[in-house]
Formats: sequence, structure tokens, C-alpha cells
Amino acid sequence: MELLLKVEGMQTYIGQYHILQDISFEVKKGEVTVLLGRNGAGKTTTLRSIIGLNPPAKGKVIFKNEPIHALPTYKIAKRGIGFVPEDQGIFNELTVEENLKVAMQKQDEKTLKRLDWVLNLFPDLKKFWKKQGGLLSGGQKQMLSIARAYVNENDLLLIDEPSKGLAPIVVEKVMESIQRMKEETTIVLVEQNFLMASAIGDRFYIIDDGRTAAAGAMEELVTNDQLKKKYLGIA
Ligand SMILES: Nc1ncnc2c1ncn2[C@@H]1O[C@H](COP(=O)(O)OP(=O)(O)O)[C@@H](O)[C@H]1O
Ligand SMILES: [Mg+2]
Repeated sequence: MELLLKVEGMQTYIGQYHILQDISFEVKKGEVTVLLGRNGAGKTTTLRSIIGLNPPAKGKVIFKNEPIHALPTYKIAKRGIGFVPEDQGIFNELTVEENLKVAMQKQDEKTLKRLDWVLNLFPDLKKFWKKQGGLLSGGQKQMLSIARAYVNENDLLLIDEPSKGLAPIVVEKVMESIQRMKEETTIVLVEQNFLMASAIGDRFYIIDDGRTAAAGAMEELVTNDQLKKKYLGIA
């Protein structure tokens, strides 16, 4: 399968802190690559480094065969990478409609058609079209946040812990939506919810203390209790 993203020996500082010490992984086109690891391991920083919000000090990020690690965030986004941040990043004062329209990089017919299609994936957003972002439920906010990235025709989506703080039944809904998105796009998913990660992921990388510590096919991890216990704290 075609290689879409390659991260090689990425190191990132936040202030004086050497947060990412050695992050390397590959993302194949059409797959869901899951980044796992304990709280504070460096998963969020990894995504933020790729998109240029915490630019790496060392290492390479190669996207569609071109280096992007020295580009500013807006240029990286333009190359076709969408980012769904951990804190969702929606506008509370804007309606669902406005949140989606300001996220659209183009307002052409093709993108408007895509918006229609995205709304079919997230029927709640259609239902609450004129409601303010801040008044949505946690699950709806998460859906809106994902839809904002997905409405643009990206080649890659980086999604940071979409299940965070959501009730199990809502997690299931978010999971179903991502599963349907998977048919059409490539995803790097940070996810602490192992059930969700294993249901959606094709490949996994474990991040531990700022380093990629283990990798493999998702089905290998599901049966590897030792690895799960060592790095994820689950038996
Ligand atoms: N703005 C910041 N200033 C200082 N340290 C930070 C900052 N952001 C993250 N860190 C530290 O970097 C490490 C990795 O954080 P993060 O990437 O958010 O981990 P994860 O997403 O895996 O929980 C943690 O030890 C965290 O405390
Ligand atoms: Mg995080």
C-alpha cells in the first residue's frame, strides 16, 4: 500500500522541555493508524508537531513524498492535512452552520456537495444547524469538530482523542462516524479508549515517554497482554 506520511526521528521541545525525543512512524494510504500510550506520553505533541503547531527541532516529516517539517501550519493544512484537536476547537458563539462554513477552505460547488455528504454522516448537525456551538452536547461538539476538518477534501486527518469525556453510547456514535469516514480517507487517530482504538485501527504505534516504543498490526496488540500491560496499563 502507498505510503502517505513518514515521520522519522522527530524531536520536539516545548520551551526548554525535550518532550518528543524520538518519534518515528509510517502511515499507509487508506488505513487508520492509531497512536496509543499513557497520559503525558507525547501523543498530542506528536500530532501538533506534524501540523506545525509545535514544530519539530529535529527529524523529518514527509507527506506525499515531500518534506513538510519546516512549513508553517497553514501551508501544511493546504497540502491536505486536517487536524481535529483534543479540545475540539469549535466556535461557541457561532452556529453549527457558521462553524462549518468558516472551516471550508473553498466555497465552490464541489465543497458544498461535500458538506451535504458530511452532514449525512452526522445527522445531529443537520438537526441543530442553527444552534450555537456552545449549546451543543459534548458528543455533538465532537461531531462538529470532526466535520469541520472533514468538510475539506484532505488526504489525511489527524484526530486527537475523539472519545474523551464522552458517555459510552456517544463514543459508539463517534466511532461509527469515523468508521464510515475510513472508507474515504486516511486517519491518524490518538485514542485512549482501547475498545475504540482496536475496533477502528489497522496499525498501532505506542508512544512512551516521547518515543515510539512499539508498533504492529492492530490485531497483534489485541492479543498481546504483555504489551498492553507494559505501556497502556491494561491487562
Ligand atoms: N505547553 C506545555 N508546557 C510544558 N509541558 C508541556 C506542554 N504541553 C505538554 N507538555 C508536556 O509534554 C508531555 C506530553 O504531553 P502530551 O503530548 O499532551 O501527552 P499525551 O497527549 O500523550 O497525553 C507531558 O509531560 C506534558 O506535561
Ligand atoms: Mg493528549
